[in-house]
Amino acid sequence: MSQEQDKEQTRPESPAAALINIKNLRKVFKRDETETVVLENFSLEIGKGELITLVGPSGCGKTTILRLIAGLTEPTSGEVTINGKPCTVPGADRGMVFQDFALFPWRSVRKNVEFGLEIAGVPKEERREKAEKYIKLAGLEKFIDARVHELSGGMKQRVGIARALVGHPDVILMDEPFGALDAQTRNIMQVQLLKILEKTDQTIIFVTHSVDEAVFLSDRIIVLTKRPASIIEIIDIPWPRPRDRADPEFTALRKKILTELEEENVMNN
Ligand SMILES: Nc1ncnc2c1ncn2[C@@H]1O[C@H](COP(=O)(O)OP(=O)(O)OP(=O)(O)O)[C@@H](O)[C@H]1O
Ligand SMILES: [Mg+2]
Repeated sequence: MSQEQDKEQTRPESPAAALINIKNLRKVFKRDETETVVLENFSLEIGKGELITLVGPSGCGKTTILRLIAGLTEPTSGEVTINGKPCTVPGADRGMVFQDFALFPWRSVRKNVEFGLEIAGVPKEERREKAEKYIKLAGLEKFIDARVHELSGGMKQRVGIARALVGHPDVILMDEPFGALDAQTRNIMQVQLLKILEKTDQTIIFVTHSVDEAVFLSDRIIVLTKRPASIIEIIDIPWPRPRDRADPEFTALRKKILTELEEENVMNN
């Protein structure tokens, strides 16, 4: 990577203490007579300010891991802590961008983005100002008063991102946030996300099916097996940003991970 790119790096390289501690997680879903073991003895430490990406076969348990950290579902055993505090219920310290948007379709973009702030009791003026800032960052200022059901899939996803970022949570959980976007918009959003993050010490846990996206964004990539998800490999990427997709190191790493995943299961990219 070039000298010029070196100067661009502002995010911490290797955080010292773990912020998030995932310890011996086990998660079993029971439906009728069948039990699905989604996680078995899953452990991972995540440092403050890290951007980590989970990649793995469809159905291996990635969304479940995010939901456990979010406190939206309880582990069968084991625990997740943030700063030593168990994540058994949702909290303002964590924001989540959902795979299926989870927006209020009949409310405006503005109202959707303001929702979390409203719940947290943030005064109206401050709410408005913050929401407008993030709606602008997501490139949706022209649609601020449009109802969400009128928007395209990609735009809905951007509303979800603005909503997760607006409360400035310590931890942002992003479940395939750019999955519904066309390739060009997706690349723009990746750069935009890094720009938003470069001046903060927010911690991101990002799920994607695109290995290219994972290599472009991550401090660390966690490569997972089929269900129950266990870790095949943890890959540190100390390269500066913005990263050059044409760099031979970039393509070589991308290829290596793809091969690992293909060996584990067939996967789209
Ligand atoms: N509420 C639930 N009840 C029963 N089974 C569930 C529930 N939620 C998830 N599962 C099952 O757990 C497994 C893991 O699901 P999860 O959504 O975590 O996978 P994923 O890795 O996010 O998949 P994808 O890449 O397709 O989004 C799947 O087999 C799924 O059917
Ligand atoms: Mg999922």
